[in-house]
Amino acid sequence: MKSQMILAMETIIGRDQKDREIYGNRGVIIIGKNLVGEGEDAHLTTDVFLDVARPHVMTICGKRGEGKSFSLGIIAEGLQALTDDIRNRLCTIIIDTQGIFWTMKTPNEKDIMLLREWNQSPKGFQAAVYVPDGQIRAFTSAGVDYDGSFSFAPSELSEEDWLSIFELKASEPLGTLLQLVLGRLPHGYSIADMIAQVGTEEGFEDEKKTLEGMLRNAAGWGIFGSSKMPPLLVPGKLSVMDFSLTPQNVRALMLAIISRRIFSERTASRRKEELMEMEFLGEARVPMPWILVDEAHNFVPSDETTPSSEMLNKIVKEGRQPGISIVFATQRPMKLHPDVLSQCDIIISHRLTAEEDVNSLKSIMQTYMLFDIAKYINDLPKLKGVAIVLDDNSERIYKIRVKPRQSWHAGSSATALPGR
Ligand SMILES: Nc1ncnc2c1ncn2[C@@H]1O[C@H](COP(=O)(O)OP(=O)(O)OP(=O)(O)O)[C@@H](O)[C@H]1O
Ligand SMILES: [Mg+2]
Repeated sequence: MKSQMILAMETIIGRDQKDREIYGNRGVIIIGKNLVGEGEDAHLTTDVFLDVARPHVMTICGKRGEGKSFSLGIIAEGLQALTDDIRNRLCTIIIDTQGIFWTMKTPNEKDIMLLREWNQSPKGFQAAVYVPDGQIRAFTSAGVDYDGSFSFAPSELSEEDWLSIFELKASEPLGTLLQLVLGRLPHGYSIADMIAQVGTEEGFEDEKKTLEGMLRNAAGWGIFGSSKMPPLLVPGKLSVMDFSLTPQNVRALMLAIISRRIFSERTASRRKEELMEMEFLGEARVPMPWILVDEAHNFVPSDETTPSSEMLNKIVKEGRQPGISIVFATQRPMKLHPDVLSQCDIIISHRLTAEEDVNSLKSIMQTYMLFDIAKYINDLPKLKGVAIVLDDNSERIYKIRVKPRQSWHAGSSATALPGR
């Protein structure tokens, strides 16, 4: 096994000296190689590993097309490649905003030569791809190989959720009407029940039609039905939740509901684990999730509140105890909520151009770092997948190249050239 060959001083991002002594070389995944030298003279040296034994909060940033989604895929592949004893204590959930991760089942034959340089070969992974129930037709006709579907009961949404997805304020007449309607409905209501209730309200003659229209539109998103969620917290499982055909503010709602469930299930399980450890029976029952969120500035932005803001901030601040890791990928780190960035213990930054984005990264390094992050980023060679890593655990900064994918990455740029 690869990890057994790690020497004492190999680079393990996310692992401090104490954990190196406890775990040695167990519980790590390979993500790339160290990059030594500057600009075009840079060359690859030793392997770079990522600790997965402990929960982490990570951000992967970089401008368009530099390799963020690709790097998320590398983490997902690494978690799948662990030996069963460790893999089964973990699980992975990818929030796929672009519909690019379902191809992880397919071996990356197109990069066979590159993979050979890394002593690897193309390989498909066992990913379970889930799409919203009401969008099955669209995914089927697009040829997406999915494994199941999910839906949400309208009654699972809080009043704030409804106001937020319709972008309404509680104080405006439409918001007031919506709250009145919700307050009168019995538990387990459907959208049809909501529409019927709107019709029976007194007054609000101008608003009734508008709200009815909004509810009909919501029914068309294809996400509402019964409360149906595939099991995500399953030992060793890799789940891809495809949000790509859903409008953005609704995506945030979906992530809010999914992450709420994950948080409460893991918190309950952690309590049991602690009891069992006290009785020396210890074994994790519910695996510790790694949640990978692409285009994360849309889910937990700095300048507004979305339905997922609260829950994601909670995971970032309190996820360590229930053992939840979360990885945010974004083009614009400064557009991520500042609490998210400041709670990150690992940042992988591909090339960034905007100065304000580079400066935003300094927030996690302030306490001890004197490095000029901008210089490090500018010195990166112009190759896809190169990055600097800021590691708060070892209090170090690394230059790396992320390894090639074994499974098919569907995020390549479109090209206008025929046959490319
Ligand atoms: N580590 C890598 N090794 C080799 N090629 C890479 C690597 N990372 C990215 N690439 C190449 O760059 C392309 C773009 O990568 P990716 O889709 O991850 O970009 P992105 O940063 O997520 O962009 P966007 O912001 O548009 O979502 C990939 O399709 C792949 O061809
Ligand atoms: Mg991307």
